[in-house]
Amino acid sequence: MTADLLIVNIKGLVQVRKSTPHFLAGLEMSQLPIVENAFLRIDGEKITAFGKMTELPVVEARETIDATGSYVFPSFVDSHTHIVFAAYREEEFVMKIKGATYEQIAANGGGILNSAKKLQAISEDELFERSLPRAIEIIKTGTGAVEIKSGYGLTVKDELKMLRVAKRIGRETPLAVKTTFLGAHAVPKDMSKADYIKLVMEEMIPAVAAERLADYIDVFCEQGFFSQEETEKIVERGKEFGMRPRIHANQLHRSGGVQAGVNTGAISVDHLENIGDEEIEILKGTSTMPTALPGAAFFLNLPFPPARKIIDAGLPFAIATDYNPGSAPSGNMPLMVSYACIKMKMTPEEAINASTINTAYALDLLDSHGSISVGKIASVFITKPMPSIAFLPYSFGSNPVAKVILKGKIVF
Ligand code: NIG
Ligand code: FE
Repeated sequence: MTADLLIVNIKGLVQVRKSTPHFLAGLEMSQLPIVENAFLRIDGEKITAFGKMTELPVVEARETIDATGSYVFPSFVDSHTHIVFAAYREEEFVMKIKGATYEQIAANGGGILNSAKKLQAISEDELFERSLPRAIEIIKTGTGAVEIKSGYGLTVKDELKMLRVAKRIGRETPLAVKTTFLGAHAVPKDMSKADYIKLVMEEMIPAVAAERLADYIDVFCEQGFFSQEETEKIVERGKEFGMRPRIHANQLHRSGGVQAGVNTGAISVDHLENIGDEEIEILKGTSTMPTALPGAAFFLNLPFPPARKIIDAGLPFAIATDYNPGSAPSGNMPLMVSYACIKMKMTPEEAINASTINTAYALDLLDSHGSISVGKIASVFITKPMPSIAFLPYSFGSNPVAKVILKGKIVF
């Protein structure tokens, strides 16, 4: 039978797994299975075979790609982004250079409220047009599946608008998209926090659920934003409507975010720049994925999460971009892999596991993404020729991706 697409002479086929029943934790994270001198067969949207070139059956193919000198990776899974937004905020970047803090800017109507004002002023179509280039941009650096949050709407109508745009990105690009309702991202200026929480719980969550716009519910659990108690209350309400929690936890302070996540069965707790031993202990034995967003730690000059401590405690660990206009204006997953290695002392193998299998777990996508496995969606990228796997994080800031195949189709 003719194959749809064959990739041959692959120097190394990375992250090959027979099956991926669960996330990788502790020492498991240091193992990255690679088949050298390999082929990969794709039919329709799926991976149908792979192996050593010496085992390649004689087969016709509609299209053949020679990957001599290059590695083939499963697409990155970016489990935390805010790529639907109206405008960048480089003016705040300059304020920060001159000494203002993220919290001071937020308290003065900048930050999330600034993004909300701009988003509220434009139509759904306009928001889509402005956000689409970011989806295309992340495809070019190897991302094949992405989570997109709301949280710059802060009114019923604008939160729905954001989530519809996120869903539309999933329909109109070859990315796999999961969506998260983050109404509790900040309190609008003209409202008390109590009134806003009421609006989130009584109006926004039911409205989002009625249109099936969100897979998950998130809260910015942070001093000056939402407390642990408020976070738990809000996400419990989301759970009643079928949204599983994932939490913005411990970014600026020890906010109780990890506790809120574990107490409510969150699938992930993200940020963790300010995580202590107590939180690491609490995460043990849970199904909650500790996730670092190294782009945000870098951009805000925060301490990087203690990845070594977390992995050495036997826990799993994931990395994502947090691509957003305020704290992490980059959706570049290879760069996050570099930061993981350089700033958090993760090995290249650990960082690649953290950005593929473990982020796929954090988006409930392990059945279809995160590894090269027969039957999974054929979302992969072919690297530029490179001498070894370590070259990817080593050559930080350069794009290692030469060709992108998503859902079985060559897209770049
Ligand atoms: O993950 N921390 C909360 N939310 C985003 C930043 C939002 C913004 O500044 O626009 C984050 O860093
Ligand atoms: Fe975020």
